[in-house]
Amino acid sequence: MSIHPLPPPKAPTGLGRLPVAQWFVLLGVLAAVTFVAGVVIVLTMSTQAAALNPSPDLAAHLSRLNAALIVVFALLLGLGVGLVATVRYAVLKPIDQLTAQVRTVAGGDFDHDLHVDRPAELAELSSHIDSMRARIVSAWRVATDQAEELRRSNGELEQFAYVASHDLQEPLRKVASFTQMLEQRYGPQLDERARQYIHFAVDGAKRMQLLINDLLDFSRVGRVTGERSVVDSGAALDRALENLSATIEDAEATVTRDELPPVSGNELQLTQLFQNLIENAVKFRSEAPPRVHIGVRRDGDMWEFSCSDNGIGVEPKYADRIFLIFQRLHPRDVYPGTGIGLALCRKIVEYHGGQLWLDGEGGDGATFRWTLPMVGGEG
Ligand SMILES: Nc1ncnc2c1ncn2[C@@H]1O[C@H](COP(=O)(O)OP(=O)(O)O)[C@@H](O)[C@H]1O
Ligand SMILES: [Mg+2]
Repeated sequence: MSIHPLPPPKAPTGLGRLPVAQWFVLLGVLAAVTFVAGVVIVLTMSTQAAALNPSPDLAAHLSRLNAALIVVFALLLGLGVGLVATVRYAVLKPIDQLTAQVRTVAGGDFDHDLHVDRPAELAELSSHIDSMRARIVSAWRVATDQAEELRRSNGELEQFAYVASHDLQEPLRKVASFTQMLEQRYGPQLDERARQYIHFAVDGAKRMQLLINDLLDFSRVGRVTGERSVVDSGAALDRALENLSATIEDAEATVTRDELPPVSGNELQLTQLFQNLIENAVKFRSEAPPRVHIGVRRDGDMWEFSCSDNGIGVEPKYADRIFLIFQRLHPRDVYPGTGIGLALCRKIVEYHGGQLWLDGEGGDGATFRWTLPMVGGEG
């Protein structure tokens, strides 16, 4: 179980800054001073009265009054001591016990029982806090188990996708190359229709190869725990542009960029991220020559990147759908593709602890935004 460090307690304000015990000491000192003053005044006055030589009757009354006052003072003293003991043992000590127990729980020992048996109010409070603790802990355990189960089944799925796509490659390669050989070797002996069938078969096999390669890339993110380090995102962008140089040149596209910061991540995956987004920006172009801008700004302890283009844009209602695997908005003969690019991008960004989304306010064209963690200690 993960344990968060115990945050410092909130500082009390105003008169509440003084702990209850100190309030009692203060009041106790005041009561003691009053008590001593009372005793001194009574003694002084009775000495003065005796010095006046009162009649025997009056002297008898005075000594009875003295005795009564001594009894009253003794009672007050006894009550005071009783009060101090009560507050000390019935209130302050149980509060201390409860505080220590709560501190233990807050410090990470979530199975520690919270219980004080007196006074009644604190006993009730502690039992409520304890049942709250027990319920939160059991809900948390269920959530942890479910997360663990989810992680496990996700891992299995990824493993399955990887093995399936990896093992499918070989027979597929065979199908594609032998159909091609069939065409080359026996092409002249076949009629037009047979050649068309072979062409469809080759085309299908090639498309499947593309799909399988993309699927492999997709299943590799996170499964192959790519190394994380300080990556210059500008260098990742350079590499992506290099890989896309032919595409960019063909489309007469212009790619501009802000100065890009270092981030904490995996260089290969960040290159894939830039490459897929820029490839889309160039592919889904409008009539005008494509213009793509890669921007960056700071957002708290993350960098927020953007890739905006002047292409055909995405209708806001498809803003979520385009990130699903194999989901495309256009027929393949108009804009070729497998529909994995954005799903892969989102997976890469999420694997890095960020988020990727389509900016609805992008104006013309499409703007994708994503966040990536700053290099530790920065900012
Ligand atoms: N820059 C963009 N401009 C317009 N539409 C886009 C852009 N990027 C992605 N899309 C839409 O999102 C869909 C999914 O993109 P993606 O997953 O990369 O698949 P693919 O590029 O193979 O079609 C695309 O088919 C397209 O409809
Ligand atoms: Mg794409």
